[in-house]
Amino acid sequence: MTSSTQTVLGLETSCDETAAAVVRRSADGHVKVLSSVVGSQIAAHAPYGGVVPEIAARAHVESIDAIALQALKDAGLGFGDLTGVAATAGPGLVGGVMVGLAFGKAVALARDLPLVAVNHLEGHAVSAKLAADLPYPFLLLLVSGGHCQLLSVDGVGACRRLGSTIDDAAGEAFDKIAKTLGLPYPGGPALEALAEGGDAERFPLPRMLLGRKDCDFSFSGLKTAAARIAEGLTTKDERRDLAAAVQAAIARQLAERSDRAMAAYAVEHEGRDLRFVVAGGVAANRAVRARLTETSDARGFSFTAPPLAYCTDNAAMIALAGAERLALGLSDPLDAPARPRWPLDAAAANANPTHVPGRKGAKA
Ligand code: KG4
Ligand code: ZN
Repeated sequence: MTSSTQTVLGLETSCDETAAAVVRRSADGHVKVLSSVVGSQIAAHAPYGGVVPEIAARAHVESIDAIALQALKDAGLGFGDLTGVAATAGPGLVGGVMVGLAFGKAVALARDLPLVAVNHLEGHAVSAKLAADLPYPFLLLLVSGGHCQLLSVDGVGACRRLGSTIDDAAGEAFDKIAKTLGLPYPGGPALEALAEGGDAERFPLPRMLLGRKDCDFSFSGLKTAAARIAEGLTTKDERRDLAAAVQAAIARQLAERSDRAMAAYAVEHEGRDLRFVVAGGVAANRAVRARLTETSDARGFSFTAPPLAYCTDNAAMIALAGAERLALGLSDPLDAPARPRWPLDAAAANANPTHVPGRKGAKA
């Protein structure tokens, strides 16, 4: 079944942002963000240098009602104007996920609306569609604080993983190295600001996974090397140059691995339009965008990145992921569980759980 216009309330509470948004998607796929409210908890977590799950869950409980109502108000709509509710159901910090999902279920039950339990990664995957006309299929580089993977996205919910990090996610690498440089949380934007005007050649850093034939990533060697250099630094100039070197090294690895994936993807999609999309918090980084734009151009791929506000966690992307599913007649029961671990490509993740393989299986 394909249906008419969807007007969806999206809810996002999987990490340290409490977010709600209203997105309208017409039957022809045209997308309009009617509102997008993001309540950041950065100030609450900053003293600890990272996200504290208990603090995050409490903060979500305290603000979700007001933020959801604000999103409806900004859109000029009431609950009665909605055609569905979409809430992140994982992967993420389970205490937070439960808050948004429970809120979404309550709205769905009270208003007799369909619920979509959205995979947060599927939200990032569609985030570039919030501001650009972007049809399926496309090659996606998903780079955030918790994830670093290359995916062939062939349609709604149809993702195949081409590569993934074998240790840290790219955003995690930015955050950890920023910490060793004495920068505040979240480290990515702070490191980008410090790197401005720096000499990226001053400190040589290791190039990870050079020559490896797959599309996997690794940042732990870079992290160790940067930490060792950071210990001996005394001047602001030196710290700036190390930040520039780190940023360049991460951007280069993302581009090199994407280049490999593009080569394979182009063979599989011969004769079709080739599209490359980068999404997730690290897609906000200008050096990363510049490197990926060059790589896309060289490989004959179009390049799309979401506007900065939709790179980091937001609920508009969750609402759109929900709207795309509702348009196909897909929804979830009201007992849909919160899933702290929920790989987009379950088959690939279980066969090769490269990122943080826990006792309970692949995280993402
Ligand atoms: O997508 P996101 O908001 O949350 C997750 O789902 O993980 O991504 C947050 C990550 C953090 O690691 C943050 O440091 C990084 O994205 N980030 C950046 C920049 N802005 C955010 N990394 C590098 N440069 C930036 N400008
Ligand atoms: Zn995210």
